[in-house]
Amino acid sequence: MKKIRVGIMGFGTIGKRVADAVMKQEDMELIGVTGRSHNWRIRSAHRKGIPIYTIPDHQLDGHGFKLEGTIQDLLKKVDIIIDCAPKPKGKENRAKYYEPAKMKAIYQGGEKPDVGEVSFTAQCNYDECRGKDHIRVVSCNTTGLARTLGAIHTKYGIKEVYATMIRRGADPWDIRHGPINAVVPVLELPSHHGPDLKTVLPDVEIFTTALSVSSTLMHVHTITCECKKTPTVEEAVEIFKKTPRVRVVYNESLVRSTAEIMELAKDWGYPRGDMPEICVWKEAIGVVGNKLLYLQAIHQESDVVCENIDAIRAALDVCDAETSMQKTNESLGIPQHGMVEK
Ligand SMILES: NC(=O)c1ccc[n+]([C@@H]2O[C@H](COP(=O)([O-])OP(=O)(O)OC[C@H]3O[C@@H](n4cnc5c(N)ncnc54)[C@H](OP(=O)(O)O)[C@@H]3O)[C@@H](O)[C@H]2O)c1
Repeated sequence: MKKIRVGIMGFGTIGKRVADAVMKQEDMELIGVTGRSHNWRIRSAHRKGIPIYTIPDHQLDGHGFKLEGTIQDLLKKVDIIIDCAPKPKGKENRAKYYEPAKMKAIYQGGEKPDVGEVSFTAQCNYDECRGKDHIRVVSCNTTGLARTLGAIHTKYGIKEVYATMIRRGADPWDIRHGPINAVVPVLELPSHHGPDLKTVLPDVEIFTTALSVSSTLMHVHTITCECKKTPTVEEAVEIFKKTPRVRVVYNESLVRSTAEIMELAKDWGYPRGDMPEICVWKEAIGVVGNKLLYLQAIHQESDVVCENIDAIRAALDVCDAETSMQKTNESLGIPQHGMVEK
């Protein structure tokens, strides 16, 4: 079997996880990653034996790295590049490197939707993205909304959604961002998450607001979803249990918080203690008339990683959504369907 040759631009929070995930796919080969500044992250790539390529103005010379060449050299050796640079560098990289090299590329959700021809969430619109050259995986928050609302929409039809994103202030390693001791409203109303969801679920009407809080662990969403048919709590629990990459968690077993979810992820042995599944609290699902209310937690660093892997297969058009998601889930230890454990 000819493997898909993958390159990664940027080796930060998302890039290093996508690199690990690519190395676990039997139909993919990680050809190399780009390095920019000298730091512990690129040293980890070096330690793992991942070939390192440079971008202009890099600071890696003299630090004992074997450098394989430039980004242009990397692009000559791969079938696709995954851009994991900070926003809005993906768009610049497209114009500067990928288009001149006629290279297929996957971008991340910090980029504006127009960085790609399409935005992507595997279980919503894989088919629409098959064969496309420039695909944007939606953000961690939008991925969380898309997975659960997509399932609800399929079952009941959605009339309207009102949702608030309670966002972690920074990633756990990040000493530059915050807040440290505040709740900060996002003064963008509605927040960009609603319009972003419509890039993958275009017929769902959604209005979102957002806040940043002093936590690094996960985002939490409060969601009120007016359905076209009357939902029940029991049905909603069953829907979430059966939805891939969604996990029902139980307050009853003392999974009461994002802290306990992240500890659970470590105990279950997910790499880095990541939680790639969207976690819905069973006891936080309620119904009033046609309105379904629920709370979910999103591990911002990892939920999009499996999406990047599926986006690679969609861009190369090597298989259908179900086959790709199954391969990805199996290789990354994600249960094929939502998992319930008390
Ligand atoms: N972090 C999250 O929770 C999260 C979740 C979902 C999506 N995203 C999205 O994923 C993308 C990457 O975010 P991240 O959190 O992984 O960023 P990050 O941790 O800051 O890592 C960015 C990486 O890109 C490198 N880089 C910097 N400028 C570059 C350039 N001009 N060209 C190529 N590489 C460059 C950085 O090198 P240095 O080490 O030298 O700085 C670093 O390796 C963004 O669009 C973000 O919105 C992030």
